[in-house]
Amino acid sequence: MNVSQIIEGDAVEELEKLPGSIAQSIIADPPYFNVLEDESWDTQWKTTDDYLTWCDRWVAQSMRVLRDDGLAFIFGQLGKREHTFLHLMSRLSQQHQFHDLIIWDRAVGYDERRDSFTPQYEMVLVLRKGDKVKFNKDAVRIPYDAKTIELYLKDKRYKDVDARRAHLEAGKYATNIIRVPSLKGISREKCGHPSQKPLDLIEKLVACSTDEGDLVIDPFLGSGTTAAAAKRLRRKWIGIEKDSNYIQIARNRLDSSEELELAL
Ligand SMILES: C[S@@+](CC[C@H](N)C(=O)[O-])C[C@H]1O[C@@H](n2cnc3c(N)ncnc32)[C@H](O)[C@@H]1O
Repeated sequence: MNVSQIIEGDAVEELEKLPGSIAQSIIADPPYFNVLEDESWDTQWKTTDDYLTWCDRWVAQSMRVLRDDGLAFIFGQLGKREHTFLHLMSRLSQQHQFHDLIIWDRAVGYDERRDSFTPQYEMVLVLRKGDKVKFNKDAVRIPYDAKTIELYLKDKRYKDVDARRAHLEAGKYATNIIRVPSLKGISREKCGHPSQKPLDLIEKLVACSTDEGDLVIDPFLGSGTTAAAAKRLRRKWIGIEKDSNYIQIARNRLDSSEELELAL
């Protein structure tokens, strides 16, 4: 089996062809269903039930290819009024083992609702396959700045200053609210996909759930963000995408010198 490759095709059909228990992590950013109303890939189901039934199928296949200690990250977004992802989370948590719900804080709001707060977050449902999971909290620590370290070192409760300094210099554990600014139109990273996720965000998910050399599978590769993150972190990857235009964008991106620069 070829790893580090883009497979052109339908997620369910292509996942079905893969052997079981090969992926250490699944990063899935599927169509949300009628949230991006101008994108035909987001409006391809007649009813919510059709969409949810389709999700049952690709998630079941994703969990089959996942290793027993692996994690599956499933992105979801609420639209102006739609709330299908709430149903999906509840349904998937009954079919599989719930592990966590991550909030991706996009740092800026993303639409102009007049009668409620401006939405600013997306959600990532995390499922596990077995009871014991691979998770590296140290890989996603957040550094304290020098001023904060000096301030915290003044706390007299800690007698061993060197140990305290080492602890602070390692940074704090990341919470399950991850703040990474969403990509703007003018962002250098932006490469022509309407739902492109920030590399920094996907890298955090890859870094905490896999080791170097592990395999990450993304059933909805889009512009190739998961592949770019996996490449940079020296993981193997397989991405499935059915739109050949997006595949070309992903290939260009993976080949581009800028991405390679980031990858070193
Ligand atoms: C939300 S986007 C993924 C964006 C990606 N995370 C990125 O950073 O670029 C969902 C992608 O799923 C693709 N897609 C839709 N239906 C699919 C299917 N049945 N099989 C594979 N890919 C599909 C769409 O073409 C779209 O690129």
